[in-house]
Amino acid sequence: MLDMQFKYKRTIEFLELQKPFSPQVVIILGSGLGDFAESINTVKSISTSDIPDYPVSTVTGHSGKIHFSIYKDVKILLFQGRIHFYEGYKLNQCMLPVFLAHQLGCKTVLLTNAAGGVNPNLTPGDLMLNTSFNSIFIKKELTGLLGLASIEIKNQQIDFPSSRLEQIIKKAAVEENISLKEGVYWYGKGPSYETPAEIKMTSKFGGDAVGMSTAHEAIYALSLKMEVASISCITNYAAGISTEKLSHDEVTATANLVKSHFERLLKRIITYLD
Ligand code: HPA
Repeated sequence: MLDMQFKYKRTIEFLELQKPFSPQVVIILGSGLGDFAESINTVKSISTSDIPDYPVSTVTGHSGKIHFSIYKDVKILLFQGRIHFYEGYKLNQCMLPVFLAHQLGCKTVLLTNAAGGVNPNLTPGDLMLNTSFNSIFIKKELTGLLGLASIEIKNQQIDFPSSRLEQIIKKAAVEENISLKEGVYWYGKGPSYETPAEIKMTSKFGGDAVGMSTAHEAIYALSLKMEVASISCITNYAAGISTEKLSHDEVTATANLVKSHFERLLKRIITYLD
């Protein structure tokens, strides 16, 4: 089992020195959703390239910054950009944001991601609360990393999304007049988008939306006993659901279109996270 404390000792020490406050909530912003960081009060921003041993983000739309921000008195650690397995990083590197958030004192984790709509009831632009996720493609890596913790998580009823967060998120959506969809997030390793046949399989196995992140972050956070929820921004129809060709540009363009919805929802959620 990997000793994250040992491996990321320098990273933790650096952030402990730099942090302007101890954050309560961590939010990881998915592809194209990073602008949220500019819409709330930033107390301190740090480029991830300045953080010792922090992997460099290589994906367009992931700016590679972390922010210590405050909204309605809630102290937030924001990751503007995440680390993906498909970029060639190890899974422990992909879980670093969650690990660091936990080290800095966060108890609540809000994950956001861009995802392709598999369920025909999902339309690009929709926001979808993740009711569960599939992580079968990374089980081996997760078990290697977390040891028995990952197996325990699998074998017991996990609180995902955390019932408290689920209530808050649904209430926030109603108050903001946002129609919030619900469904299963299906993790695919990437880096290429899926084939229509893979999407057909995903649908048969109960996946509603497909993306290349989040599942391992959620599992890791759950193993650290943090409360977790995740929200997908449906940026495109998954392969074969429509005749449109898929592209990362489409993903960021749709995420841009729903930016204001997304920001309103997140802000409203935060007001309930004290
Ligand atoms: N597939 C996988 N990941 C994604 C997609 C998709 O269609 N859209 C956004 N992220």
